[in-house]
Order: sequence, then structure tokens, then C-alpha cells
Amino acid sequence: MSFDLVFFGGTGDLTWRKLMPALFQAFRHGKLPAGGRILAVARDERSDDEYRSFIKERFVEVDSAKRPSDEEFARFADLLHYRRMDLSQPEHYAGLKQWIEARGADTVVLYLATAPYLFPVICEQLGTAGLNGPRVRVVLEKPLGHDLASAQQINRVVRSVFSEHQAFRIDHYLGKPSVQNLMALRFGNALFEPLWRRESIANIQITLAEALGVGTRGDFYDQTGALRDMVQNHALQLLTMIAMEPPSTNDADAIRDEKLKVLKSLRPFTPESVGRDVVRGQYRAGTIGGQPVPGYLQEAKVPADSTTETFVALRTEVQNWRWAGVPFYLRTGKRLASRHAQIVVNFREVPHPIFPGSARANKLVINLQPEDGLELHLLASKGSSQGEMLAPVSLDLDFDKAFASERVGAYERLLMDAIAGRLNLFVRSDEQEQAWRWVEPILHAWAADPNGPRPYAAGTWGPPASSAMVARDGCTWDEEQ
Ligand code: BG6
Repeated sequence: MSFDLVFFGGTGDLTWRKLMPALFQAFRHGKLPAGGRILAVARDERSDDEYRSFIKERFVEVDSAKRPSDEEFARFADLLHYRRMDLSQPEHYAGLKQWIEARGADTVVLYLATAPYLFPVICEQLGTAGLNGPRVRVVLEKPLGHDLASAQQINRVVRSVFSEHQAFRIDHYLGKPSVQNLMALRFGNALFEPLWRRESIANIQITLAEALGVGTRGDFYDQTGALRDMVQNHALQLLTMIAMEPPSTNDADAIRDEKLKVLKSLRPFTPESVGRDVVRGQYRAGTIGGQPVPGYLQEAKVPADSTTETFVALRTEVQNWRWAGVPFYLRTGKRLASRHAQIVVNFREVPHPIFPGSARANKLVINLQPEDGLELHLLASKGSSQGEMLAPVSLDLDFDKAFASERVGAYERLLMDAIAGRLNLFVRSDEQEQAWRWVEPILHAWAADPNGPRPYAAGTWGPPASSAMVARDGCTWDEEQ
């Protein structure tokens, strides 16, 4: 299958930091379909060879095991082309169309790796140029809007040019093998399903913790904050995969219909419940891995009086028969104690304990990163001479080790899926808009609240109010158990 993959924003960070290295891995593993061309478009004048050198130089920033040798790069570089484009000029799109049509590839993937404010302009121009035929797919990456109205506005323009099945909205978490494994775990095994409900499960905790701060992205992050950056997309996508009903097929729309139902079943926030069930925080100076790190307000390009949140913890419920009354706790933040993404399913305690000191409930820990694995925490008899002494033991699976040779990075998987036209791991516009609809009352309540975010020291697990929130239900976060 021949394809043309076009990167708008071809000299930007996303392209050289993530997309080109991912494509190179696919190329190295022989996964890139033969007969492909990769075209980068950007504003400045360069030849194909100059662009190839530009990309080659940037590969030094890539993990050494993933870096090409000179010989490998030379073969990969044959696929790379460059074209100057002013994104506001209709004739430049007409020229691009000619370049594409001169060869007539089976599939054309147009990846908008530009600043999001350019998405509507680019889509409209693509439509005018007729670059939206059935062979064409468009890939968009978050942030897709900063609230419901702006997301709807982008979607309206995209839909006026492309059909929903041509639109590939990336949430890079869905490309992670550990996240795909959630579906496999739930719907490839009969074991969990009978227990996957309110009768057996006490609460579910989703933690997406980062040890890094905002780095060089202070200006972007300060306009965004943790709720928009991580909760509206990544955390809610994980929640839908944990809470969804089994889809009737593995088709994109069957899966996305079920995910949408979960988003629609989330308990809506009111100004009062935001005060009670949502905690926002902002990091102060602290220590991580023995190193002192500055506070958020001292970061480059962050205003000294910023009230942007770098931490969010919240409690919600999925209001349906399966989950009624089961708290779902979500938590994400920068400069937390460690980089750590996990889902903890806490089961209920045994109804009538007969062993002394055995009140500990089972839990299933799904580790997403840095390790990708599963731990099932059980109680077992120690077999000691002092009677029935039970002790916690855990059954550990390490998927990275088990499937090491098969695993591919998130962008590699998502790019290959976009080329192959598989939509399963991409977000549909109604899911994305529903997620905005749900987080908006939080944004409004915060805007009206003069208190601002609560401070927390870098290297901790966020403001104490986060522990207090779960303690109200008699729970603790996993690291406190
Ligand atoms: C991005 C956010 O979507 O996800 C970043 O914009 C965040 O702020 C990143 O650091 C986290 O992704 P990962 O794959 O490193 O967990």
C-alpha cells in the first residue's frame, strides 16, 4: 500500500522530537509500508537534502538505542521530502495537491503538527484545494480547544471539510501498549468481568504523576494547567476504558460508543461539589531524587503571580447500575514524588473475616509507566508455627519483559494506525466534546474562587487536601496504604 504522509509544522518540535524518531523505528522494524513518502512542510526555504540534514542532526537528542547509524539514516532519508508552504496561501495548497496527485498514492495522511490555532485555517484551505477526498486522512493532536466552545469550533471546521472517519484525533496515551492492554485485560479474559462492578469493587484510583516540572513550556503550560493538559484527555480516557461496558465488536465506533456512554454518565459537577470533590495545587520549591528544584512561580516564562494549577485530584462517580456509589479518584500533577502512572482497583473486604488481623482487601494494580505490568495483591497463610498468620503477597506480571520484542512506542503505533486507517485508538469528536462539557464547571468554579491553588512542596504527592478528600470516604491513596 503506497502512502504519502505530510507533516504540517515539519520543522517543529513535535515533528523532530516525536514523529520522525517514531517513523524511523517503524522503518527499522520493517513496519512502514513500502512505497511511502514523508513530506515535511514549513515556512522557510530548504532543499530535501537540507531537511534531511536538519532531521539527522536532531536524532542526536534521541535515546541512543533508537538512533540510526549513518547507513540506516541514509536509507530512511530517501523517504523524506521537504516543501516550503505559507499556510495562508491557497496556491501553496494547490501545489501540494499537484505533488500528491502526480503519484496518486493509495493513502494520504495529513498530520497537523502545528500550533492548534492554525488547525481551522489549514483545514479550510485543504478543503478549498480539494485535498479532502476519500483517500485522505487528517491527524490532529491536542490541545484541541481550551474549552467546550473552542473545541466545538475546531470540530465544526474539521467536519465541514472531512468526514468523522477521516479525522484522527490523537491522545498519545491511547498509543501506549500499557493502555491498550486495559482493553485486553478486561475483554480478553473472563476472570475479571464478574468482579468488575460495585458489588466487588470499593473504589478506583487513577494516578498520572510526573516528577518533571514545566521545563521550557512555561508559557504554554501557564495558559493550560493540569486540568486541561492531563485530566480532560488522558485521565478521562483511562477512566472510560476502566468503566466502559464490553463493546459488541472491536470496531472503532463500537468502542467509542461505549466510552462516550461513560463520559455521559459521570456525575456532573456543581460549584459546591467542585469545592468539596476537586483539589487544585501548585508546586513550590522542594527536593526530587535528592536534587533541589524551584517552585512553579520561579519557572521560566511563568508569571510570578500565576494561579495556574499544576496538580488536580478529584472524586467522581459513574452513575449507572454497574458503578453506582463507587468513587473514582483521579489525580495528576507535575513535580510529584516520582514518575508514575497507575490504576488501582481496590476490592471490598471479605464480608466476615475469620482470620485475626486479616482485614486487608485485595487490590489489582495496573502499572502503566514507567513499568508496564500488573500486580494482584492477595492474602496468604505464612504457614508459621504461630497459628493462621496471614500476610500480603502479590502476583506480579511484567508485560515489558514478556513482550519486549513486540512493543512499540505510542507514536509509532498511532502513526502506523493512521496510515492503515484504524481508528480504534483515536478520539471521536463527541467524546472529546463530552469531556470538555464535564470539566467546564470545574474551570468556572475555579475562575470564581479567589483562593487559588493550594501550595505543595515539589517531591511530595500534592497538597494534604488531596489525602483529606479521599479520607472523607474512609480511603487512602495507594502510596499511603
Ligand atoms: C502531554 C502533556 O499531553 O502529556 C504534558 O501536555 C505531559 O504536560 C505529557 O508531560 C505526559 O506524557 P507521558 O507520555 O510522558 O506520560
